[in-house]
Amino acid sequence: MATERTLSIIKPDAVAKNVIGEILSRFEKAGLKVVEMQMKSLSKAEAEGFYAEHKERPFFADLVAFMTSGPVVVQVLEGENAIAQNRELMGATNPKEAAEGTIRRDFAESIDANAVHGSDSAASAEREIGYFFGN
Ligand code: PPS
Repeated sequence: MATERTLSIIKPDAVAKNVIGEILSRFEKAGLKVVEMQMKSLSKAEAEGFYAEHKERPFFADLVAFMTSGPVVVQVLEGENAIAQNRELMGATNPKEAAEGTIRRDFAESIDANAVHGSDSAASAEREIGYFFGN
């Protein structure tokens, strides 16, 4: 299996809950390595640009408002099969549907405030890593 890189974001709800360390620890215990990291407050334009593919969705304004409501921690994770592995650790988008032991099941409250983001494909990972960290 190939070594991959994926973009991960610890969202404002999880930062506010003080579980940054617990979430990072799950990545590390699963063998994923943090190779880039920054804590930042996204501007409206940055959040809109990041989620541009969803701009026609009914929840777009709420998603942007949520992602700019407090600081986030953005990191690049590296490891075997990192994109799928991170998605598995995160669990389903809706925490109510997320499997036991996943980050969203344990730390998220709702589909609007769901603790983490992870790239969903190799193409997204490349775009999203470039968006925050350049090439
Ligand atoms: S899709 O259809 O698979 O592309 O959509 P999905 O991955 O489920 O969701 C895309 C991102 O939008 C967020 N989302 C929402 N935000 C607010 N309200 C509602 N109802 C809602 N539904 C989905 C979801 O958390 C995804 O964010 P990321 O950061 O990509 O996980």
